[in-house]
Amino acid sequence: MLFTSGLLAVALPNVAAAAYAFEPLKHLAGIAPYFEDPILDPKAPQGCNVTRASMLVRHAAIWANDFDWETYIEPFVEKLQNTTVDWRSAGSLDFLTKWESPIEKEDLEDLTSIGKLESYKLGVDVHLRYPGLKRPSKVWTSTAERTEISAESFINGLVSSSNSTERVSVREDAARGADSLTPYKGCPKYSSSYGSNQSSEYKSVYTKPIIERLENQAPGFNFTADDIVGMQQLCGYETVIRGSSPFCSLEVFSSNDWLSFEYMNDIMYFYNAGYGNEISGVLGYPWLSATVDSLLASNSTQDLYVSFTHRELPPAVAVALGIFNNSSPAGPEDVNATMPLTKPNHNRAWRSSKILPFLTNIAIERMSCDSYGYDAGDYYRVLVNQDPQPLECADGPGESCPSSAFEAWVQGRGEMFGGFTEKCSPDYTNSTDTLSIYSS
Ligand SMILES: *[C@@H]1O[C@H](CO)[C@@H](O)[C@H](O)[C@H]1NC(C)=O
Ligand SMILES: *[C@@H]1O[C@H](CO)[C@@H](O)[C@H](O)[C@H]1NC(C)=O
Ligand SMILES: *[C@@H]1O[C@H](CO)[C@@H](O)[C@H](O)[C@H]1NC(C)=O
Ligand SMILES: *[C@@H]1O[C@H](CO)[C@@H](O)[C@H](O)[C@H]1NC(C)=O
Ligand SMILES: *[C@@H]1O[C@H](CO)[C@@H](O)[C@H](O)[C@H]1NC(C)=O
Ligand SMILES: *[C@@H]1O[C@H](CO)[C@@H](O)[C@H](O)[C@H]1NC(C)=O
Ligand SMILES: *[C@@H]1O[C@H](CO)[C@@H](O)[C@H](O)[C@H]1NC(C)=O
Ligand SMILES: *[C@@H]1O[C@H](CO)[C@@H](O)[C@H](O)[C@H]1NC(C)=O
Ligand SMILES: *[C@@H]1O[C@H](CO)[C@@H](O)[C@H](O)[C@H]1NC(C)=O
Repeated sequence: MLFTSGLLAVALPNVAAAAYAFEPLKHLAGIAPYFEDPILDPKAPQGCNVTRASMLVRHAAIWANDFDWETYIEPFVEKLQNTTVDWRSAGSLDFLTKWESPIEKEDLEDLTSIGKLESYKLGVDVHLRYPGLKRPSKVWTSTAERTEISAESFINGLVSSSNSTERVSVREDAARGADSLTPYKGCPKYSSSYGSNQSSEYKSVYTKPIIERLENQAPGFNFTADDIVGMQQLCGYETVIRGSSPFCSLEVFSSNDWLSFEYMNDIMYFYNAGYGNEISGVLGYPWLSATVDSLLASNSTQDLYVSFTHRELPPAVAVALGIFNNSSPAGPEDVNATMPLTKPNHNRAWRSSKILPFLTNIAIERMSCDSYGYDAGDYYRVLVNQDPQPLECADGPGESCPSSAFEAWVQGRGEMFGGFTEKCSPDYTNSTDTLSIYSS
């Protein structure tokens, strides 16, 4: 018997237990270092050439944002400095004997070196991706230092030896209506705190067993839910500062702990700038509309339009595009019910790690196609971090939209989400419904 089972084990490796690999860095939502994990092929489909493209890009990795630092990380780091817990006997937490926070207060919100490098690399990648497109004369960015420096690094990677690409700064102040790369700032119907109540509810659910486990490893530290969140955030921030972090170890937090952290963030972004907030599509539509105008225009001055912004805009644009929508086309349902506050919906489409990691980019491409089985002509498609996202109008090669269907679809989105000024009803009187930066 023993002999037989030994033979079987040699002949059939891994039949009983399939290998399970888990990468926490791909589940850190807004703190995820940039990654591409396309499901569909990013290459232009057979018979198609990209003839124009527009990209919306979030700034690259930063040292930590003020809110995460003040709310979660700083209190944890201070508690660590005061504690008398002996970490040497704390199992997987024994690294805390020597660990020191990588974050200096004066670096908050600044890009890290890794962030700058990744932005430069994205510029090189885009250069290689679109060999047929003219180098752009302008790249746009909102005015925060982290977006401007991301744009500068990107330009240096994109155009190598030339200084003929201008970085155009677009002011972030509120009274610009839809005419900025930060339209949520001019919309009183949006609040940066939306989603925090809902995500807090799930935070207390998922951290409870983790707190008890870690308290058992390190009695007397009195871990709080916010300590757990801060430690999980440190995995991301420390990685984009030092290149790796002991907090990412699966011995410290299990894969389920990471999935729960991700789900808490997904709830937050869902109600903040996603399908759970009725203003989201309205905030995302001006970029979509301006982008489509410049992709369709017969008098466009550039082949490539790239704009840098903050994390709030990409999810709002995702809603305007109808992508990462949890609701099934099968029937009417309560969209909020797709994100229960007491347990994860593992089958959801809404995943903030895919939608808004550092440097996330949403691209809309115009392609000229002469593909087998399709009419020759122009087709359009959307890629998020290189992963093609079929739109409702997708009926062409590589799940792209034929030109006429695309234009009709955009018009439909305008009917749903146009009217920024009316829907945001700001106090100032000179609001605008459109983003005009690409046409001036
Ligand atoms: C750490 O100790 C200092 C000095 O006793 C105290 O002022 C501070 O509140 C403590 N911080 C925490 C997070 O316990
Ligand atoms: C580009 O850089 C070169 C060398 O530094 C300089 O001579 C030239 O004036 C610059 N061109 C523009 C458009 O700024
Ligand atoms: C509206 O007026 C304010 C104050 O004069 C100005 O800062 C802002 O840029 C204007 N908005 C637009 C969209 O022109
Ligand atoms: C969060 O809950 C508090 C207390 O119930 C409430 O006052 C507040 O308006 C809620 N915030 C949001 C953004 O819904
Ligand atoms: C944890 O709580 C206990 C009991 O309230 C207290 O004596 C101890 O000082 C606390 N430890 C820390 C690190 O705050
Ligand atoms: C989803 O929740 C948001 C925030 O509570 C609410 O404004 C919205 O009306 C809800 N949507 C539906 C379809 O119930
Ligand atoms: C999300 O999907 C549902 C079901 O297909 C659809 O009714 C709804 O309009 C979609 N939401 C958006 C914003 O596209
Ligand atoms: C795509 O580009 C190739 C190489 O320039 C060219 O031979 C081909 O005709 C183009 N196809 C279309 C549909 O424009
Ligand atoms: C292109 O033409 C449209 C309509 O005539 C005009 O509004 C727009 O400003 C022009 N764009 C450029 C870049 O010249």
